Order: sequence, then structure tokens, then C-alpha cells
Amino acid sequence: MSVVKFNVLSVPEGAGSGLEERFAKRAGLVEQADGFEEFQLLRPVEGTDKYLVYTRWRDEESFQTWLKGQRFAQGHAQASSDASASGPAATSSELWGFEVVQHVRPAHK
Ligand code: HEM
Repeated sequence: MSVVKFNVLSVPEGAGSGLEERFAKRAGLVEQADGFEEFQLLRPVEGTDKYLVYTRWRDEESFQTWLKGQRFAQGHAQASSDASASGPAATSSELWGFEVVQHVRPAHK
């Protein structure tokens, strides 16, 4: 079964649009990583003020390989250079990991 990894970002008030702009200009490398299944950038609406980066992978090994590899570094190179130029898009981040127990899709119509 797949694994889901969330990067949980604390974003200062008013800085959400800056974070979203950085993602709009993202490197687009993660989709080339072996075992990558999907990702979504989730903007908080209720219950939390954290942005979630939801990612799903074939297995733990695929995620770890991406995390330690060039594509992760390059995918975050802009974040590092923007952070030194204009301050960080997020003030802290936290990694949450899950194993997918069920994955239900709509029945075919
Ligand atoms: C040190 C903590 C992290 C921070 C502050 C951070 C922040 C960011 C930012 C601002 C971007 C937008 C692109 C850019 O500006 O370069 C980005 C890209 C991305 N981040 Fe992170 N991130 C972190 C760690 C992680 C982790 C652990 C994951 C996975 C769970 C993740 C998943 C992604 C993905 C999938 C992209 C798109 C990369 C691409 O297009 O290839 N990030 N991140």
C-alpha cells in the first residue's frame, strides 16, 4: 500500500499568497521521481492555520529516495534562495507520515 507524507507549514499571517506563488513557480521535478503518486498544496480554511503539502508515494523507500536526492534539493533551491532574499515563506515545518489503509474512489457511472 502507498504511504502519505504531509509537510505541515506554519505560515505567518498574510504570507499565504507568497507561499502559494512560490509553489506556482515550483521546479516541477517531483512528478519525475520514481514511486511518486500525487501531491496537493492545501490552503487552510477551517480548524487550522497550517498549509499542508500532501504527497503520496508507492512506498517508504520511494519517498526516502526523493527526500535524499537531487530532485528534492533542486525542488527546494528556489525556496532557499527566496528565503534569503525576502524572508522565509514558512516559519516552521513538520513532517507527518501515514500508511494508506483504504483508498476509495467513486464508482464508475
Ligand atoms: C524544510 C522544510 C520545508 C520547507 C520550508 C518547504 C517549503 C517549500 C516551498 C516554499 C516550496 C515551493 C517551491 C520553491 O519555492 O522552491 C516547496 C516545494 C515542494 N515541497 Fe517543500 N518544503 C519543505 C520540506 C518538504 C517535505 C518534507 C516535503 C514532502 C513531504 C515537501 C514537499 C514539497 C513538494 C512536493 C514540492 C514541489 C517540488 C517540485 O515541484 O518538484 N517539502 N517546498
